[in-house]
Amino acid sequence: MKLKNLELEATALMSEVIFGHGFAHYGYFPDGVPEVLSAEAMGRAQQAYFEKLVQVIPDGVTSILDVGSGTGANARALIARGFDVTCVSPSVQMNEMARAKLPTGTGVHDALFEAFESDARFDICLFAESFHYIDLEAALAQVNRYATRGMVMFDYFRRPGFAHGDGTRGTHQAFLEAVAAQGAFRIVSDEDMTDAITPTFVIHESIKNDKVAPFITRFRAEIGREYPWRAWLMEKMLGRALDKLNRRTDRAEKFAREHEYRLVVLERV
Ligand SMILES: C[S@@+](CC[C@H](N)C(=O)[O-])C[C@H]1O[C@@H](n2cnc3c(N)ncnc32)[C@H](O)[C@@H]1O
Repeated sequence: MKLKNLELEATALMSEVIFGHGFAHYGYFPDGVPEVLSAEAMGRAQQAYFEKLVQVIPDGVTSILDVGSGTGANARALIARGFDVTCVSPSVQMNEMARAKLPTGTGVHDALFEAFESDARFDICLFAESFHYIDLEAALAQVNRYATRGMVMFDYFRRPGFAHGDGTRGTHQAFLEAVAAQGAFRIVSDEDMTDAITPTFVIHESIKNDKVAPFITRFRAEIGREYPWRAWLMEKMLGRALDKLNRRTDRAEKFAREHEYRLVVLERV
C-alpha cells in the first residue's frame, strides 16, 4: 500500500474515532485560522466543508454518484438529507468502512472511476477532494457518460509550474480548456476557496509541532533513563522519523503557493 493511501486512511480514522464522521477531506474555515488550534476545530471545519458542498448541489438533484467516496462519510450525510447515493472508489479498506456505515443496499463499487462500468445513470457526479487523483480527460468522459445533469467538484488544482505531467493534478486552466473542448457542460459557478482551506495545515502543524512533538521528546528522554537498551533500539528504528516531528514545514504557505482549491459546479448544456 502506498504511503499516501495510509495517510488518507489515518485522516479518515481520526475523523471517525474522534468525531464519528470518517471524513477524509480537509477542513473549510470561512472565518480564517481559528483561535484554538485543536482537533475539535478541525472536526468542525470538516463538517463545514460538507455543508458548503451540499449548498451548491443544484435544486432538483436526487441521485448522486459519489466518486472517490472515502469511508462513506459524505454519502451517509447525503443519504440522511434524502439523496440517493452510489459510491465508487478504489480503496478496498475504505470501502469496507463505507459499507459498514451506509444503509443496506447502498451501492459501493471497488473501482477506479476511469474504469467504472455500470448501466446506471445519475443526476450528478460528486468529487469531494477526489478529482485530482483521476486523469482529467478520462474523468470528464466518465462524467459525460454517467451524469445526466452535471457535476460538483470541491478539490484542488496545481498552480502553473507545479502541475503533474500525467493527466492528474493539473492546473485550473487545463481543466477549463478540457471542459470547453469537450463541449458537454457549462460552468455554473467556480469559486476560489484556497484561503478557507489552508488553515487545515496550520492546525495539522500546530498539533504536530506544539502538542505531539514535545510529548514525544519527553517520552524518549524518559525511556532513555529507565530502559537504555530498549531506548537504543527504538532510536535506531524510529529516531529519524521521530526527529521529523520537531521540524516545521510551513505546509500552509507551501500548499497555497502550489495549489488552488476550488468549488466548481458544471451543468449539461
Ligand atoms: C481525499 S479522499 C476523499 C474522500 C471523500 N470524498 C471525503 O470527502 O471524505 C480521496 C478519495 O479518492 C479516492 N480515489 C483515488 N483515486 C481514485 C480514482 N482513480 N477513482 C475514484 N476514486 C479515487 C480515494 O480512494 C479516496 O477515497
